Amino acid sequence: MELEGKAFPKLLVRPVVVVTTISKRGIANAAPFSFNSPISFEPALYGFSCNPAHDTWKNIRENGEFVVNVVGKDLGEQMHVLETDYPYEDNEIERAGLTEEKAKAVKPPRIKEAKAWIECKLEKDVELGDHIWIVGRVLAVGVKDEFWKEKGVIDVEKLLCHVAGEFFAVDMKEAKYKRAK
Ligand SMILES: Cc1cc2nc3c(=O)[nH]c(=O)nc-3n(C[C@H](O)[C@H](O)[C@H](O)COP(=O)(O)O)c2cc1C
Repeated sequence: MELEGKAFPKLLVRPVVVVTTISKRGIANAAPFSFNSPISFEPALYGFSCNPAHDTWKNIRENGEFVVNVVGKDLGEQMHVLETDYPYEDNEIERAGLTEEKAKAVKPPRIKEAKAWIECKLEKDVELGDHIWIVGRVLAVGVKDEFWKEKGVIDVEKLLCHVAGEFFAVDMKEAKYKRAK
């Protein structure tokens, strides 16, 4: 079946991250993003694509820091709260009944209920199409033990992944593969 060009993200299952930022006055903001990707190992760089109208971008422009919170399926219900366009400086973390936790290397808080976190400092931003590609230099990374399988991979079954609109992947099996020799 042929689709129109802008339907292409629906063909890609993407982990949902919740990016936390703070305003100049230090009030926290949180929003889900699924247009996101690792970019480089050394230096460690991470990127996500943000609509320029989002408070997330306003805050990152203000102070250049953000936390990428990797969330599990248990936070699926909170996505519609976090994606609501509340007025600027209305704290979505509180609105969603989630908890702020102090980050290690940056001022924006982490979300305590997240499974893993990537703390970033703005490295570069590029206007691409109707979004801004925001690149962060990774300053600190952590994962909850129960989300970290013994071989050093995340627990895919617990990971919240976006497909399109209201659709999330619900039945992912554990990722098992062997490297080809
Ligand atoms: C699962 C999911 C994924 C999303 N991914 C993105 C994304 O990659 N880029 C984007 O600009 N908005 C994305 N959104 C929409 C924003 O999260 C939403 O507009 C939010 O209100 C922006 O919040 P802010 O203004 O506090 O930054 C997504 C929403 C959901 C529910």
